[in-house]
Amino acid sequence: MEKILDMITKEMAKAFQSAGYDEKYAKATLSNRPDLCEYQCNGAMAAAKEYHKAPVMIANDVVEALSGNGAFEDVQAVNPGFINMKINADFLKDYLNGMRRNDGLGFEKSDRPRTIMVDYGGPNVAKPLHVGHLRSAIIGESVKRIARFVGHKVIGDVHLGDWGLQMGLIITELKSRKPELPYFDASYEGEYPREAPFTIAELEEIYPTASGKSKEDDSYKEAAMQATFELQQGRKGYQALLRHILNVSVTDLKRNYENLKVEFDLWKGESDAQPYIPDMVQAMKDQGHAYISDGALVVDIKKETDTKEVPPCMILKSDGASLYTTTDLATIVERMKLYQPDEIIYVVDKRQEMHFVQVFRCAKKCGLVSENMRFRFLGFGTMNGKDGKPFKTREGGVMRLEYLLSDINEEMLKKIRESRPMSEDEAREIAKVVGLSAVKYGDLSNQASKDYVFDVERFTSSEGNTGPYILYTIVRIKSILKKYEEQGGCADNAEICAYGNDSEKALMLELTRFGSVIENAYEELAPHKICAYIYDLANAFNKFYHETSILGTEDEVQKNSRIQLLILTRRVLETCIDLLGFEAPERM
Ligand code: ARG
Repeated sequence: MEKILDMITKEMAKAFQSAGYDEKYAKATLSNRPDLCEYQCNGAMAAAKEYHKAPVMIANDVVEALSGNGAFEDVQAVNPGFINMKINADFLKDYLNGMRRNDGLGFEKSDRPRTIMVDYGGPNVAKPLHVGHLRSAIIGESVKRIARFVGHKVIGDVHLGDWGLQMGLIITELKSRKPELPYFDASYEGEYPREAPFTIAELEEIYPTASGKSKEDDSYKEAAMQATFELQQGRKGYQALLRHILNVSVTDLKRNYENLKVEFDLWKGESDAQPYIPDMVQAMKDQGHAYISDGALVVDIKKETDTKEVPPCMILKSDGASLYTTTDLATIVERMKLYQPDEIIYVVDKRQEMHFVQVFRCAKKCGLVSENMRFRFLGFGTMNGKDGKPFKTREGGVMRLEYLLSDINEEMLKKIRESRPMSEDEAREIAKVVGLSAVKYGDLSNQASKDYVFDVERFTSSEGNTGPYILYTIVRIKSILKKYEEQGGCADNAEICAYGNDSEKALMLELTRFGSVIENAYEELAPHKICAYIYDLANAFNKFYHETSILGTEDEVQKNSRIQLLILTRRVLETCIDLLGFEAPERM
């Protein structure tokens, strides 16, 4: 189905043409004066230059040409040359009936589906998931779902941080605790045990301990670097330990992400890219892109148009070691080989932006990808506490994701228990579903690049621009529909008919915006646009609900039409929250 604005623009184009003006001036937009009209066209102003006429004369000609046009109820030319339009009631209801009948709510899927990879989550193994990873997971999951809805083939990759010094640190600490394990005996030839020599709780304690020691003790740090080096050179015992660390970590991560309703298609990590490094580096040298500067191997990537300094991309350090950049470049090589994406979207802390500018430029310059490859960096800001500083525990430590979620759930539980009597199990179940909406909506309703304040009290409130408010609205619709059924109603064959009051029309108009909102949210990688939309839609519905007795509507046809309108509103809201990554309970 066409977007409603495109349909209106088409009507305008016909009118511009028949009045003797170029149709390129016919673009219709949503009105910025909703008190006067619903749509507007400002093209007469621009056309005035070409036709050497007063804009309002052109506007008048177009309005004249529109007379009798079935799409509009009212069209007016106003000074200095705006064309203001009100939509026709039948046109509006036809549009909504079209949406109703369509599986995608009238949204036209892309006719050129592309393969898009989304690199998000990015947790580091053996380190507990902390709130910094929350944003990447939440935003990335939503972006993935939106791109999929738009019709693309989308592959989400968690891209584990499983390479580098942190592994050497863990190995070193383990060795000092349990030197008798076979992993540390370089001459050991047998099979390694299947059971990991640690639990997740131990692993999470080992890393910070080791990291602390290495900061104080140079020889400890030396040992960790040596262990990292030997691991990277392929030492068998250490490789076996790496697998244990990965297994234990990933099991725990999966459980955490499941609670967040975040699902990755791929569980690949930095270590998977390592085998691609030697050939990639060799090719960069052979092509003359990489050269030695101060002992390090670098590729120049600055451009004349740069307004700020873009340093050369470092590929190998002077001791031959690879870097974060090298790993990201090799990951691109791997992804091209295995999945041939047309686009890769990285959802990472915005402080890493320069790193990605370097990686993207270097990948193109060295021919790792074709010129058509689209790289997008979706950098997000920091989640702060109420004091405006990065979110911490009461004791000042890094807040673990699990604790943060259980805090939200507790708060939600309190509110749910107060709302109506119900069993403890039901209350907990509902608190979990609604709590997730509070966290995700609280995050996604902000533009990703901005910092925001994590405010448990505000996020869990059922009033205002929050997840729980959206869910309350959906639950309200569900309960009206249930009551209708209980009263023996059946609207299966009913159509939506012309609106009966202003708030009903306002709700209908909001519903028609669905397609362009999704399109825009996808193009700009902006889930916050979907949040803003469903907030408007929920408000429009609630206003309609308060002003209209839906089940009390006398006229049977109109009553069934309203039921269909409710069903459509529920579908649009539920589709949108699914794109944001949460769902609504049956009751609240
Ligand atoms: N593990 C990294 C971190 O915690 C994020 C990884 C982001 N993705 C990437 N391809 N570099 O900072």
